[in-house]
Amino acid sequence: MADLSGKAAVVTGAAQGIGRAVAEAFAAAGAGVVLVDVDEAGVTAAAAALADAGYPAVGVAGDVGDEQTIARAADSARGALGELAIWVNNAGVSRPAMLHKMGVDQFDLVLRVHARGTFLGTREAARRMREAGSGGSIINVTSSAGLAGTIGQINYAAAKGAITAMTKSAAKELGRYGIRVNAVSPAAATQMTETIRSDERFAEQYLERIPLHRWAEPDEIAGAFLYLAGPAADYVTGQVLCIDGGSYMAS
Ligand SMILES: NC(=O)c1ccc[n+]([C@@H]2O[C@H](COP(=O)([O-])OP(=O)(O)OC[C@H]3O[C@@H](n4cnc5c(N)ncnc54)[C@H](O)[C@@H]3O)[C@@H](O)[C@H]2O)c1
Repeated sequence: MADLSGKAAVVTGAAQGIGRAVAEAFAAAGAGVVLVDVDEAGVTAAAAALADAGYPAVGVAGDVGDEQTIARAADSARGALGELAIWVNNAGVSRPAMLHKMGVDQFDLVLRVHARGTFLGTREAARRMREAGSGGSIINVTSSAGLAGTIGQINYAAAKGAITAMTKSAAKELGRYGIRVNAVSPAAATQMTETIRSDERFAEQYLERIPLHRWAEPDEIAGAFLYLAGPAADYVTGQVLCIDGGSYMAS
């Protein structure tokens, strides 16, 4: 679908779920991949699995809300894998609660991982890509919650709304350097959606909101990232691509 040979890609939240599927798809397309995750054992195993299969891959353990983690990820890309051309801000958490019960800590944590993490990743990628002068593709991960709002996750909706706004702002700011910034809004069967997919009270209700009436596997989401990372999207910036079975359209 895309030839990413000679390019280095950083993917955050890559120990499992969508991030891991994206890292695998990028590696199969020829990119050297830096996998970043706060789950040290998970990211080490995911990077080792790629390296064992013959792909250039490095794992970086750390929190995306921490500037040191982000700098280490960028250094790893530059060190061994090729020119840093792709950066995916995908790491995420959810801490649901109805508004009247939500604690400030719950709010701050979710904002830290998503909004601050995406800001730090985007800033680092922008600095490195500007310096190299060869353009690049930054891909963020938002959600229908950040586009249409949701019930019981005002922290997550706020964080994803911030990511959507940062995507568009960074696209306007970085276009002149050939750096494109887009976002994917997915729906997939991952650990993050495990509760709503398995809970009797929610499972059918959520399926009813998806016109295609099923959850995607993470690797079905990865194609959108390949597209946005590669040359077929050379004239695409500031866009949110919904790979969600039609959920956002239907909301
Ligand atoms: N699955 C869906 O239906 C869905 C829908 C909309 C948006 N998203 C978004 O997709 C992205 C990936 O989620 P997923 O569904 O694969 O979930 P997931 O829980 O399977 O994966 C999230 C990954 O992020 C990592 N992570 C969490 N906090 C981190 C931190 N501070 N620093 C580094 N890594 C951290 C986790 O360890 C995990 O490996 C998230 O941004 C999520 O909000 C998912």
